Amino acid sequence: MRPAAANALLPTVQPTQSAHLVGRIVSNGAAPTAFNDPYAFTPGYYDLFRASEDALPSVSFFAGLTPPDADALEIGSGTGRLALAVAGRARTLTCLERSPTMRAVLISKLAQRPEMRSKVTVLQGTAPGFDLGRAFDYVYLGGVLEHVPPAERPVLFAAIAAHLRPGGLCAMDMVLRMPAPDLEERVMDEQVLGECRYVLSAEAERLGPDLSRLRQTYRTYLRGELIATEPTERLHNMHRPGPVLKDLADAGLHPAEGDGLAQATPLPDDPGAVVVRKAAP
Ligand SMILES: C[S@@+](CC[C@H](N)C(=O)[O-])C[C@H]1O[C@@H](n2cnc3c(N)ncnc32)[C@H](O)[C@@H]1O
Repeated sequence: MRPAAANALLPTVQPTQSAHLVGRIVSNGAAPTAFNDPYAFTPGYYDLFRASEDALPSVSFFAGLTPPDADALEIGSGTGRLALAVAGRARTLTCLERSPTMRAVLISKLAQRPEMRSKVTVLQGTAPGFDLGRAFDYVYLGGVLEHVPPAERPVLFAAIAAHLRPGGLCAMDMVLRMPAPDLEERVMDEQVLGECRYVLSAEAERLGPDLSRLRQTYRTYLRGELIATEPTERLHNMHRPGPVLKDLADAGLHPAEGDGLAQATPLPDDPGAVVVRKAAP
């Protein structure tokens, strides 16, 4: 099993060619290209380092919340780690994903699952600037909030509320109290495929109380010899429980239970989840 610190960073450290470009994609909805998509070259690594049962975002947490017979929407569905499990429980699932390569991997997985073809819809789109013209019973985001600057949160939550039916459920993770990460480069995980050993390391520079620059490096070793080094970098936004719950309430989304904060995993570095509901009329 990976050290606990690896779980804390794995859902948050995603590669990008330019942190500034990520911000631009989020804010203006520009179509991602091979040059500005932070996931353009790494969906394979994404799944490789999240193959274990305890990998984050937590599949069991998001799938377990799926209401019976729900029409569900995942924002930032990536390679479909959560989507396939939710689709197994939902009536329909719509996946909104801005990265063409992450989407391609999900489509490829769906191609091998005939039973899911009629109920999973995969769409190109960037939150918060999306309008699907329909509403859902369950909207969820796993490992996505850290990509969204706090200033864009109200617009994102308004878009989520607009896509929820009255009484509909919304869940997200990465609502954290811990300081923005600041760490020297360290190995987070390693995986072996055939004769290759893949090593993922991460380092972070704290730029402010709620913002870090994260650098993630994938190194490939063949029979012990380093044959590839692929560094990536992006900004990482921290979202705090108080302001998140306030912005959700302003959008008409209120705690589903208790104070709305949920434990997504039993791990000490649980990726702070929030579960809210749109008020029924
Ligand atoms: C850490 S991955 C999580 C993928 C998936 N939810 C999972 O749990 O495995 C984040 C994904 O969200 C996508 N993403 C980030 N910001 C987004 C946005 N504003 N709109 C749509 N997708 C976004 C990224 O392209 C990436 O595929």
